[in-house]
Amino acid sequence: MLSLIRPDLAELSAYKVDGGSEHPSPDKLDANEVSIDLPDWFKAKLGAITQLEIQSNRYPDGEYASLKKLVADYVGFNITPAQISLGNGSDEIIRSLLIVACLNRGSILVAEPTFSMYGILAKTLGIPTVKVPRSNQDFSIDLAAAQQSIDSDRIAAVFLVHPNSPTGNSLTSAEIDWVRSIPENILVVIDEAYFEFSGITLTGELSQHPNWVILRTCSKAFRLAAYRVGYAIGHLDLILALEKVRLPYNLPTVSFVAAELAMSHHAELLANVPEILAERDRLKLEIRNLGISVWDSDANFLYLRSADDSSIANCLKANGTIIRQTGGGLRLTIGTPEQNHRTLSRLKSCL
Ligand SMILES: Cc1ncc(COP(=O)(O)O)c(C=O)c1O
Repeated sequence: MLSLIRPDLAELSAYKVDGGSEHPSPDKLDANEVSIDLPDWFKAKLGAITQLEIQSNRYPDGEYASLKKLVADYVGFNITPAQISLGNGSDEIIRSLLIVACLNRGSILVAEPTFSMYGILAKTLGIPTVKVPRSNQDFSIDLAAAQQSIDSDRIAAVFLVHPNSPTGNSLTSAEIDWVRSIPENILVVIDEAYFEFSGITLTGELSQHPNWVILRTCSKAFRLAAYRVGYAIGHLDLILALEKVRLPYNLPTVSFVAAELAMSHHAELLANVPEILAERDRLKLEIRNLGISVWDSDANFLYLRSADDSSIANCLKANGTIIRQTGGGLRLTIGTPEQNHRTLSRLKSCL
């Protein structure tokens, strides 16, 4: 590596998406996307706006005020547009939060297994990650270890997913009580990327906790993964700090108008969530009947553990179903009923 590059980056690899399968049209069930593309009417509307209304030679509207208003209305709980910051995916906001609250201030605390980007992005900024374990039975957080870390590890931020990825469990009431007890000089990130599937949120408590921030994304239930739009909801001071560190024009105009259109039509776009949840629960029982450990999930994916996760993941991939091996198990995104049917029959033949 060139001597001018920070030596600690040698330990990191560039983020890579799995190369796919030999199969001609694999079912991609590894990234918790919704498997059905946006409806034609939405694409037609977006196409018309993109073609007729966007001035390609101009920078985007750097304030994004109209989208913030739509997001605040969608979120509810009397949240105002000034409490919203938009990101190029919630990944961008995670990095901004690390810059705002952790750089030169302390470490981040995570409970493993969890979303890997917190640790990866922290590392790119030279911020240490302290990891505490979860129970192998129900993936609840070892709260004694977490508290000990708060007391002794100079923690600047705690990152929690609600419900967690890859394990699918929401925060328990004991965990939420612990979160409420975290001192106000520590940032608490509550990542609700899967809110539209779980229907549970801690937004109602934000006004009592200036150190909490809630993250959401349009990449999952809203089906806008290609456009990269996420948002943070939080205290005015925190949002102002996020606005200071974000790049100007971080949302391309086409992403901004796609998100505006999605927020204006949220009920129609989210109408297929109940079918995904019903498929998830059906698939869970069928997988359990195969003798594989599979847990309840509040999100659009299931978490599995078997005697040999690697060979199952590889066999499924060779047969055309791509899933994610992560955190000591397998994360399977719920697809269309046809995809789920194929997953099940491929799983049976792989066992
Ligand atoms: C928990 C969690 N947070 C954030 C993200 C990133 O979302 P975005 O596409 O908005 O960057 C993901 C994506 O998989 C996720 O699972």
